[in-house]
Order: sequence, then structure tokens, then C-alpha cells
Amino acid sequence: MFNIDEIKENLKTSQIGKRIFLLDNTDSTNLEALRLINSSKAKFGDLIIAKTQTAGKGQQNNIWISPEGGLYISIITVSKICEFSNLITFVAGIACADAIKLTAGININLKWVNDIIYKGNKLGGILTQSITRANLSTNVTGIGINVNSKNLNTDNTKYNAASLIEISGSKININLLTAEICNCFEKYFELYQLTSNEIVKKWLEYSNIKDLKINFITQEGLKLSGIVENIDTSGHLLVKADNKLYKIISTQNTEILY
Ligand code: BTN
Repeated sequence: MFNIDEIKENLKTSQIGKRIFLLDNTDSTNLEALRLINSSKAKFGDLIIAKTQTAGKGQQNNIWISPEGGLYISIITVSKICEFSNLITFVAGIACADAIKLTAGININLKWVNDIIYKGNKLGGILTQSITRANLSTNVTGIGINVNSKNLNTDNTKYNAASLIEISGSKININLLTAEICNCFEKYFELYQLTSNEIVKKWLEYSNIKDLKINFITQEGLKLSGIVENIDTSGHLLVKADNKLYKIISTQNTEILY
């Protein structure tokens, strides 16, 4: 059960989670956050939590099935628009990986670019939405993790669902997990504003993406197969194909073969 006092007792942040909005039910915490921003009432670090969502959103217009027992949160931040603005999803991914390890003792993997995976099954995901004005981006980073719910299905044909309770065999303290995600998120967000190198390095450690095969379409419309060489400091995939190095700017037409 979510409890604001217990979350606050475990927060070590200076900004993230200083204001917490806990809702029994909403359409989507990301939509709640966007409404808060559009009404000019949002503050940096606002944390929106819902016990259930009726219209949880995932990537590629997938539905995020959100029964009670799961973690559904959105964090509001503001950052300067720069060439590595899109790395905020990486920041959230490594924060979740650290927090899950700290509170549940479980090692997860991150998959390009927003999936939280345990042994090939989907444990959670991240959906970042941003509103940009002038050179500033107001970011809503939505995180969904299957925590204490069992026998879940996903709307995602790629994966079966997993939950932390099923993996660990015991109930997870969702308040501690929420606080740790905020603690780790703030730490990595601060680092990300100084340099993106460390964020990419850490993300690579959790993802094992190097050397995987990838099918992609070049800007000229050529269909190619290659090998993932690296991720650059802006968060773009660097792929070797036909003895050339390609930078993948949009991953819409790419398929990484895990
Ligand atoms: C994905 O893997 O496709 C991303 C899933 C993101 C789900 C979370 S749950 C909290 C926040 N609110 C939403 O509507 N979506 C995100």
C-alpha cells in the first residue's frame, strides 16, 4: 500500500519527490503531470503516483495495464534542450535498475530504449514525454513497474510479464522502492546535467547491447543489417554495417535482435 509518510521518510533528495500527489485512480500519471504543467502549477521534482490507471500509456501507443499492486509514477523535471536531451529515459532506466537491486535484490536488464526486463520477461517500462518552450524542456518521466501484482498479461506481443513479487517470492515494500527510484533518479539527473558520458556508460552496463545484430533502414531508405558498436554521448546507436559506421538518429525503423 502506498503511504506518503513512509516514502518521505526514505527520501534523500533535495528536489525530486518534495511534493507528492497520491491518487487512488487516474487515467494516466503522465497525463496528470501534463495537466499540472499546462495549468502552470507544476514544480520541478513533482512526483505523481497512482494506485491504478485506467488509460496507462506505453511506448508506440501500447496500453500499460495498471492493476493495484503496481508502481505507476511520473516525475516532472526541467532541462536545457541540448544534443543529449533524450538521455532522460536512460537516467530513469539506470535509476530503476539501481533501486530494484537495492530494495528487492534483483538484477534487471535494460533493453533499447525503455524496457525493464528480467530474464526475457517484461518487468516495467519508461515513457518520457516533453513539452519544449524556447530552450527549455519540461519532462514528464513515467515509470511503470510490476511490483506486487501476480499473473499479469502485457499488451505487448514481444514479451511475457514478470513482477517483483513473483521473482523474489515475497512482497516488496513499494514505498521504499518509490523513494529509492527518486533518490537514484536525482543522483543521475544531476550527473546528466554535467556530462552524459557516465549515464551512457552505466546504461551500457545494464543493457549488454554491444555486439547485438540490428536491422535498420538508412536515411537514404536502404535496408541494412549490422552490429551495434556503441552508443554515443547523445544516446544514438552507432552501428557497423558494410564496413561503415552509421549513427541511428530515429529508431522507428530499427529492430535489435536480442
Ligand atoms: C513501456 O514500456 O511501453 C512504457 C510504459 C510506461 C508506463 C508508465 S506507468 C506510469 C506512467 N503513466 C503512464 O500512462 N505511463 C507511464
